[in-house]
Amino acid sequence: MSISRRNLLSASALLLAGPGALLRAAGAKPAGGGPLVLCWNENPYGPSPAARAAVSQSIAEGCRYPADEEIAALGAAIAAQEGLSVDHVVTGTGSGELLCALGLLYGRDGGEIIAARPTYDELPHYAQRSGAALKLVAVDAQLRHDLPAMHAAVSPATRAVYLCNPNNPTGTALPAAQIREFIRGLPPAVTTIVDEAYMDFVAAGATGSVADLVTTEQRVVVLRTFSKIHGMAGIRCGYALAPKEIAATLAAARMTSPNLFAVRAARASLADVDFLADCRRRILASRARITAELGNLKLRYAEPHGNFVFFDTGMPLARFTGLMRERNILVGRLFPPFDTWCRITIGTEPEVGEFLQALRAIRASA
Ligand SMILES: Cc1ncc(COP(=O)(O)O)c(C=O)c1O
Repeated sequence: MSISRRNLLSASALLLAGPGALLRAAGAKPAGGGPLVLCWNENPYGPSPAARAAVSQSIAEGCRYPADEEIAALGAAIAAQEGLSVDHVVTGTGSGELLCALGLLYGRDGGEIIAARPTYDELPHYAQRSGAALKLVAVDAQLRHDLPAMHAAVSPATRAVYLCNPNNPTGTALPAAQIREFIRGLPPAVTTIVDEAYMDFVAAGATGSVADLVTTEQRVVVLRTFSKIHGMAGIRCGYALAPKEIAATLAAARMTSPNLFAVRAARASLADVDFLADCRRRILASRARITAELGNLKLRYAEPHGNFVFFDTGMPLARFTGLMRERNILVGRLFPPFDTWCRITIGTEPEVGEFLQALRAIRASA
C-alpha cells in the first residue's frame, strides 16, 4: 500500500511538532503543548467508551486473525441498522479503501469519472492513477455540487459519478431529493457513488441518506465511515452499501480484511447511541459558535454540514496557515481554486476557543 498524501503530511507535521503532538493526535492531553490538530476532520471525542473497552479487552487476542463469523456479525449489525440484507454491505479498512477500490473498478482502462471540484479526492485520485479520465465540475456559487453541470458533463464514456454529500472540503449539502432526481436522470449504465461520511452532522432537515436506493434498479453505492461521528479514524473501518451484484464485485476488489480491533470497536460503537448523540450535539454547538464568530469578523463561509467549516480567511491561505502555525495550530490545506479559504476541523470546546482566539488576533493584525 502506498503512503498517502495525508499519511505523509500528518506524519511529517507530527514529527516536526514532537512527541507531544503524537499524544494529542492519539486523543490524549499533551503534557508539553504539541500543536492543536484541526486539519483532518477527526472527531476528538472518540472512540466511544464502548469501543475503547472492546479494543482494550481484545489486546491479548491480537495474535489471532479475526474470525469470519465476527466480520460477518459486523456486516449483519450494519445491515440491521440500515434495514438492508447483509449482501448489500461491504466492510473495509476505512471507507477510503472502498473508495479506492471503486476508483479502480470504474476508472481502469480509461473509464470516465465525474466529480466536483473541490471534493474529497481519494476516489478521483486513485481512479486517475488507475488510468481513469477524470472530469471535474466546479461547485456552484454556494459551493455546492452543481448537479445540472455534472449532468451535462455525462458522456457515453462516463462510468461513474462521485457525489460527496455533505461535501468535503466545502461542507455544503444537497437535499436528498435533488440527488435522487439526478440519479434518475442518468443513463442506466452509469453508477453514482454517494459518499455520506459526514451525514451524521447535517443540520436537521437539510438532507438525508439515499442508501435505500441500493435495493432499487438504480446503480447507486453509498459510503459510510467509522472515522467521523464514531471518532475511530485511527482504528480504520468503513463500509459501502450497494446493490448485491456491485457489492460482490466491490468485496472481491478489496485488498485487506478488517482487523480484529476495528471489527470489535465498530460493533460496540454502533450500539453506543448516547455517545453518538453527544458527539453530534457538541460538534453542532461548536459549529454554530464558529460561524457566529466568522459572522462577527465579517468572514464569508460555506453553509457547514460536517464536523468542519470552510471559510474565507481574507488573505492567501499560505499566509494564514503560517500565522496559525506560529500559534501552534494546524489548519486545513489549500483546496484550489479557493486560495484564500481554509477548512477548519471542529475540535473540543477548549480547542475551538483556542482557534477562535487565534483567529481574532490574526484578523486584528491583518
Ligand atoms: C468525504 C470523505 N470520505 C471518506 C473519508 C475517508 O474515511 P476513512 O477514514 O473511512 O477512510 C474521508 C476522510 O476524511 C472523507 O472526508
